[in-house]
Amino acid sequence: MDSETLVQSQSTEIRRSEIGPLLESAKIGSTVLIKGWVRAFRANRFIALNDGSSINNIQVVVDFENFEEDLLKQINFHACISVKGKVVESKGAGQKFEILAEEITILGGSDPNLYPLQPKKQTMEFLREKAHFRMRTNTFSAVFRIRHAVAFAVHKFFNDNGYYYLHTPIITGSDAEGAGEMFHVTTLEPGNAPKTKDGVVDWKQDFFGKATNLTVSGQLQAEIGALALGKVYTFGPTFRAENSNTSRHLAEFWMIEPEVAFFDIFDDMDLAESFVKYLVNYVLEHYPEDLKFLDQRIADLEKNMKKEERRPMGLVDTLRFVVDNDFERITYTEAVNLLRNSKPYKKGKFEYPVEWGSDLQAEHERWLVEKKFQKPVIVRDYPKDIKAFYMRLNEDNKTVAAMDVLFPGIGEVIGGSQREERYDVLMDRIKEMDIPEEELWWYLELRKFGGAPHAGFGLGFERMVLFITGMANIRDVIAFPRTPGSAEF
Ligand code: 4AD
Ligand code: MG
Repeated sequence: MDSETLVQSQSTEIRRSEIGPLLESAKIGSTVLIKGWVRAFRANRFIALNDGSSINNIQVVVDFENFEEDLLKQINFHACISVKGKVVESKGAGQKFEILAEEITILGGSDPNLYPLQPKKQTMEFLREKAHFRMRTNTFSAVFRIRHAVAFAVHKFFNDNGYYYLHTPIITGSDAEGAGEMFHVTTLEPGNAPKTKDGVVDWKQDFFGKATNLTVSGQLQAEIGALALGKVYTFGPTFRAENSNTSRHLAEFWMIEPEVAFFDIFDDMDLAESFVKYLVNYVLEHYPEDLKFLDQRIADLEKNMKKEERRPMGLVDTLRFVVDNDFERITYTEAVNLLRNSKPYKKGKFEYPVEWGSDLQAEHERWLVEKKFQKPVIVRDYPKDIKAFYMRLNEDNKTVAAMDVLFPGIGEVIGGSQREERYDVLMDRIKEMDIPEEELWWYLELRKFGGAPHAGFGLGFERMVLFITGMANIRDVIAFPRTPGSAEF
């Protein structure tokens, strides 16, 4: 049956109200038009309707005697409907008012026998496979509203502080991190690429006349911006072909990279701390209802867990704590000493060795943040051999002016550094580390002409959203995750 025949009477004289704002300001006795997706239809009488504008549903009351059976049968889970009705005081608990339906139109039916989602708790894994419908659930709608809020707050923070948004390229010829985790960009056919005399692919004949890849970081280009505009930031997609199948890694993620002329590593840490605090505070202030929902969700999930598996604090309390307290600041060397004196180290509980010179593993970072300091920690001055070529060499000749911001439950959210502005030192590092110098001619020239000390960092956007929403897996805070073996939707 087509939808027109189901319309009881069509009216266009009133404008649609969005449910979120309506819940704030509805006047008893007024007539309203609302549209949205059915979250529940109880007792053939109460529809919980949601249009995405708020975590809260509006209650629509259906006097079933006034509506055709055919129409009522189509008010199914996640069907899309339009309702015209009167705002009346609610007798039930849970809402001050409700909408007494006068006209209902089915905009998009949803056969409950065929619709992939059921009105019950579904696992995150299952919902990931239904990414085209998962945003209709309370959890995911809250997550994606908050993701938006964090993105908006990023731009607001930088704009209010005099930074310029620089769009750095997605296709590049360089490997900014020197880690070789790049996706090639090519128009050559895999089995049929032209070869040089030596039998290797002749990239000169490719689209750009050279080998190119998707960017792993906009930093190197952001440095160009900083050495002209003073304070810039990037906010764009970033791609890493690292085969890390963890709850913290994506092959396509978004990164925010401020870069500032005349900043040293200490200015950089101050900026990082005030920036992430601003983001958390923005969401606390502007999205309290979504946070409250996510907080309750975690409390429900943890009900049957052992104490040591539960979070030490609820979500909102954790966020407030981060905003209200100074981050701990230690050097890598101090971190190693603390770790070597820790209980888990002495009891042989760490899987990876703790030795000066090797990178801190997630288990070490978590001990520092969650056990030792119980707050975010900034670790700085890492051994040069485990960090990127562009980081500024310290006077000890062994460490670089690098810093990582570590968060509870997440680990590294920010990686940054003061950049090596001294041409000769940078050249030595590039040679030492076998970095292909031809691709970096312009980066080197920045040190030759009008160079300056400068610093910056990269914030992993999804890791930040993961922290703020309290979700457990990074795949659940990006709409369409790309991970090893998975690029659906
Ligand atoms: O520490 P990283 O590799 O630093 C850089 O790329 C620098 N160029 C940043 C700079 O100084 N401008 O990455 C920065 C952040 C990490 O701290 C982490 O939060 C996030 O990016 N990140 C990832 N997030 C999700 N999935 C991945 N595979 C990620 N790799 C890094
Ligand atoms: Mg890093």
